[in-house]
Amino acid sequence: MNSQSFQCDSLEQTQRLGRRLGKAVQPGTVISLVGNLGAGKTQLTTAIATGLGINPDEVSSPTFMLIQEYQGRLPLYHFDTYRLKDIHEFEDLGVDEYFFGDGVCLVEWGDRFQKLFPEDLLRIEIQILGETQRQFEMTANGPLSEQLIAVLSD
Ligand SMILES: Nc1ncnc2c1ncn2[C@@H]1O[C@H](COP(=O)(O)OP(=O)(O)O)[C@@H](O)[C@H]1O
Ligand SMILES: [Mg+2]
Repeated sequence: MNSQSFQCDSLEQTQRLGRRLGKAVQPGTVISLVGNLGAGKTQLTTAIATGLGINPDEVSSPTFMLIQEYQGRLPLYHFDTYRLKDIHEFEDLGVDEYFFGDGVCLVEWGDRFQKLFPEDLLRIEIQILGETQRQFEMTANGPLSEQLIAVLSD
């Protein structure tokens, strides 16, 4: 296991961090995003999508879908699980096919579903430090996720 914190003092810095992450992700990358409402989970997701070559306007459009799929350098599956009642509802979405497939998965509010994630998971916990300051605490647990932290730390 490998951990690293990144502090962003502005939305622009968060966008830069996310774009770098989006350029580095590999087939099979699964990222769990943890943090309160307004922490920046969706902002980071949009930036990761941008790094993957996806039009950010597509990602920020409002929707009530549980899974959104975008095509960039790799397919990106964005799960916003806020409205899900329990782990069974999440499982019923067929998450295994996504998690163990060749795309990139981003799960907002991922902590409730720990059991279903692959072992090699990049967990990103976002702390709100101030109006425009955020801390991103990343934990990796396998080669794919550890490589991402290594790229970002460079
Ligand atoms: N450094 C920052 N990183 C991310 N978001 C920031 C930052 N500073 C301010 N914000 C604001 O915080 C809010 C984050 O919203 P959002 O990404 O939708 O949160 P979540 O998906 O975690 O509920 C946005 O309004 C964004 O403009
Ligand atoms: Mg959100």
